[in-house]
Amino acid sequence: MTKNAKLQAWIKEIADMCEPDQIHYCDGSQDEYNTLANLMVEKGAAERLNPDKRPDSLHFRSDPSDVARVEGRTYISSKSQDDAGPTNNWEDPAKLKDTMKALYKGCMKGRTMYVIPFSMGPVGSPISKIGVELTDSPYVVCNMHIMTRVGTRVLDELGENGEFVPCLHSIGAPLAPGQTDKPWPCAPIEEKYISHFPEENLIWSYGSGYGGNALLGKKCFALRIASNMARKEGWMAEHMLILRLISPEGKKYHIAAAFPSACGKTNLAMMEPTIDGWKAECIGDDIAWMKVGSDGRLYAINPEAGFFGVGPGTSYHSNPMAMETIKKNCIFTNCVVTEEGDIWWEGMDTPTPEKATDWKGNPWNGKTSKETGAHPNARFTAPAGQCPVIADDWEDPKGVPIDIFIFGGRRSTVVPLVYESFNWNHGVFMGSIAASETTAANIGAVGNLRWDPFAMLPFCGYHMGDYIQHWVDMGEKLGSKAPKIFYVNWFRKDSNGKFMWPGYGENSRVLKWMCERVSGKAQAVETAIGYMPKADDLDLSGLNIADGNMKELLTIDKKAWSEEVPKIKEHLDRFEPKLPEAIKEQLAGLKNRLQG
Ligand code: OXD
Ligand code: MN
Repeated sequence: MTKNAKLQAWIKEIADMCEPDQIHYCDGSQDEYNTLANLMVEKGAAERLNPDKRPDSLHFRSDPSDVARVEGRTYISSKSQDDAGPTNNWEDPAKLKDTMKALYKGCMKGRTMYVIPFSMGPVGSPISKIGVELTDSPYVVCNMHIMTRVGTRVLDELGENGEFVPCLHSIGAPLAPGQTDKPWPCAPIEEKYISHFPEENLIWSYGSGYGGNALLGKKCFALRIASNMARKEGWMAEHMLILRLISPEGKKYHIAAAFPSACGKTNLAMMEPTIDGWKAECIGDDIAWMKVGSDGRLYAINPEAGFFGVGPGTSYHSNPMAMETIKKNCIFTNCVVTEEGDIWWEGMDTPTPEKATDWKGNPWNGKTSKETGAHPNARFTAPAGQCPVIADDWEDPKGVPIDIFIFGGRRSTVVPLVYESFNWNHGVFMGSIAASETTAANIGAVGNLRWDPFAMLPFCGYHMGDYIQHWVDMGEKLGSKAPKIFYVNWFRKDSNGKFMWPGYGENSRVLKWMCERVSGKAQAVETAIGYMPKADDLDLSGLNIADGNMKELLTIDKKAWSEEVPKIKEHLDRFEPKLPEAIKEQLAGLKNRLQG
């Protein structure tokens, strides 16, 4: 129970509306996790994996209609549509609430409503914030136990008058007396709503049990609502991994990097450098909250406590540290389950199983089947503390001082391996034109270019023009203490369609150059798009890469870039009349330099 009157009143209001059979107050204990895990196994909602293969781990199969975030059903319901901007779905708050209240009425009948007090960020950190999720899904409770800090200690921190973000979630599947439950109950797509009311710091989610739709601390709170709070309060909530690189002399550099989906963010967050003497440590793989410290530098925390990563493609080759992280105490969703009771997915570097069960629960032979066994968006939920390269101080409430921002995307042509901004506003311009070619993980035709400014397209909780202005303002506040800004592209292809850069741990060579730019040791040449290394400026020792490839990776094709300019203009024009003058000047500058 809680002494917080506002929380008590809210729980009562929601219980009256949703009519659960009972209310459970989560204490965040291991016992609570185990009890709910056992309950879900007994009811057939989850399968316990073989303890000899994957101790204390569960596998879930979602309903085939409930496998990913639903951007089309996600709303930023600010009072004025203008505040949501052109990149968000909008609905009038009163109207949306009426529609959703009709759905919420009695929606928890036959179920338990769980009250999950959670902290985004270490409990008590000046950068952390508290939320309370009310949900009728025990799957959500167990995932929140891993992804956030849950329980009594959070209520203690909240106290009688503390502020919290109310997060209401229902799977939208009431049970009539005697009705048997489905393994993965949820509502049909047209009844799903992932709604945000930024003026009230309020989240209402209905109809989906999956990931970013249901674990409301993550995308809904830590990005969409937090980006609004950050703008008002003068800090930053970004879709960024946080990585520490340590030089052979022991100097620490902190990097925050934003990439759209399917660009290897989790891989970079857990990378193992291939260059002598350099070490990397992981602090976060998805979200960074950053505030200006008393020394004027920007300090970042990872508001999450776990990783909710994509399974397929994760292997000892692409991400050995993730493979080590998921060895035990994990929740898996929509994977293949092998005959031995372990999980498997496409791209895992163990033999393809021939007798297994696919993510839909059907018998599956990986050698003969035409369909994939795991859903392409199959996920693992893993405690961050289990990552072998997690930094010892990853939960330091102070956060880490950021030296470097990186933006990037997947581009088979045009964009070079790496370039550095001339100054802060030029870096903001680079973030605003981040774009990526779509892969099977995105909706739409594969290979289309999708603009994804700052990798925040689906996560910015307000007008993108105002958001870009906030970046410009943060630069003014940080002045000479601002991080340097870089843009990378690990995905250039040659004329035969082969990747030109080896990627993964070899990316440390590019990161080393960035660190040495920060410490004033590395050279760069000025080009039309920014500062760039020559091949000689990168540490390529021990790397077998053709000279021609290196040259192409580091050359600017002025004609191809000139052809980008009108597309960039069209993209940015969507944010008018809120596009900052500073960004228009940057576009004009780029155009001039390309003509020069
Ligand atoms: C995620 C995403 O799940 O960005 O992290 O979609
Ligand atoms: Mn993400």
